[in-house]
Amino acid sequence: MKTQILPADAPQTAQAAAALIKAGELVAIPTETVYGLGADGLNPEAVAKIFAVKGRPQDNPLILHVADAEALTHLCHDIPPAAYALADAFWPGPLTMVLPAKDIIPKTTIAGNTTVAVRCPDCAVTRQIIRLAGVPIAAPSANISGKPSTTTAEHVLHDHAGRIPLIVDGGSCRVGLESTIVDLTEERPRLLRPGGITPEQLLEVLGDLVVDKAVTAQIDQDAVVKAPGMKYKHYAPAAPVIIVSGSREAAARYIRAHFQPGDRVLCFAEELPLYEGCAPLAYGEEADTASLSAGLFSALRELDDPAVGTVYARCPVGGGIAYAVQNRLKKAAAFHIIDAEVAL
Ligand code: TXA
Ligand code: MG
Repeated sequence: MKTQILPADAPQTAQAAAALIKAGELVAIPTETVYGLGADGLNPEAVAKIFAVKGRPQDNPLILHVADAEALTHLCHDIPPAAYALADAFWPGPLTMVLPAKDIIPKTTIAGNTTVAVRCPDCAVTRQIIRLAGVPIAAPSANISGKPSTTTAEHVLHDHAGRIPLIVDGGSCRVGLESTIVDLTEERPRLLRPGGITPEQLLEVLGDLVVDKAVTAQIDQDAVVKAPGMKYKHYAPAAPVIIVSGSREAAARYIRAHFQPGDRVLCFAEELPLYEGCAPLAYGEEADTASLSAGLFSALRELDDPAVGTVYARCPVGGGIAYAVQNRLKKAAAFHIIDAEVAL
């Protein structure tokens, strides 16, 4: 199969993508978070292709992408007022809500669960494709399972050339990390995955938020968790990643003392001068956390090279979008963190 790439802003792109979706084929779609590997979310055979091409475990449900909040009533039941309040505040945008699923959603899409994750992406061409196809688009992040997510059409081509018919090229993803996921099916709203909509923003609308343990700690492979995707090894390049925390100076001292040929340093742009001779790669500026979020996956993919030894990574501190960057980087590092202020 030849994989075609069509620019998002070309006149026939949305039509061509929608026709493939309606025909039960896969299309890689741009969103403001990461690229998705999309299929008709109401067609179990089409959805099965996503699991096959991505190499995704069958117990890991997919997110349904919708064009507006009205679609919620077709897909979900017992929708709490909080869902509409969140949609009003943050849709279209990087927020996914977990709600009780109606029977029209195939079990394959939701991996046998009774709930469904829904989001409305902040990407005009993708909402247009959904409208033209007339169905919600099921789409996981387009990366091959376990690898860092895809934030450009080139990343998607790298993972899936010859295996999917079409990639819609919308350029680099603005947010760069997958959407925030909030579960609204329990008494208290629960954060399952941090992302571009921050915990602070959610609290402002919801007045209450529980942070799931899968966000802050490493989860055992056999554990029963709310968002099954959170337990799998994720976002990781081939090489081991070690986060080195502490002041700029302490971290540079530690890393320079342990650096071996073939190792790499993943740091903030402001720190590049400290790592001369240590093959540093900056993923953004510490002073601009949005640039770190936008650049993280591209950098992790660049470091996904069998020739790389150990990756020493610098991680931003604090809340807001930095909270989501910490979450992804800690998962890439399998929670291996060294405090350079105390370590020798
Ligand atoms: O930004 C995003 O959300 C991207 C773009 C393409 O929209 N999609 C994405 O999908 O990140 P994926 O499949 O890589 O991650 C979806 C996460 C997984 O951890 C999955 O377990 C969880 O959402 N999930 C899906 N349905 C769920 C449900 N009903 N209940 C709890 N978690 C769910
Ligand atoms: Mg993913």
